[in-house]
Amino acid sequence: MRQSRWVEFLVGAVMLLFVGCSESPQTGENQEIEEPGKQTYTRFCFSCHASGLGGAPRTGDAAAWAPRLEKGLEKMLEGVIRGLPPGMPARGMCLQCSDQELENVMTYMLKRSK
Ligand code: HEC
Repeated sequence: MRQSRWVEFLVGAVMLLFVGCSESPQTGENQEIEEPGKQTYTRFCFSCHASGLGGAPRTGDAAAWAPRLEKGLEKMLEGVIRGLPPGMPARGMCLQCSDQELENVMTYMLKRSK
């Protein structure tokens, strides 16, 4: 007798655990929408622009970007597309990136470098 009640209890506990799991809050809903340019930045630009490798202006370093900003965003984007030898490879090494995508990435970096 006692033993079967114990089994019942155990089954109940397992059921509770199961139901508890399926009721876990939905994590997808509150996720921020990915910023345009972020993924490309992480894949292609981060390696140089996070550390300042080869003299790259670091993301987050406002002073490093200030003189570059002076020439205007359009000129800067031209530099990204053509490359700035020897340090900055053409299209930041993202050869499949469209001009628009490169602009998105540049905006992403600059927003973090104010
Ligand atoms: C191999 C390293 C490297 C990678 C990868 C790289 N950069 Fe650069 N980047 C540099 C260096 C070095 C400079 C500084 C060049 C100079 O001023 O001579 C630079 C400069 C720049 C500038 C300033 C241009 C200017 O006119 O002053 C921008 C904007 C830029 N990079 C964007 C990007 C973007 C966007 C990506 C990714 C798609 C990227 N970079 C990937 C090394 C890199």
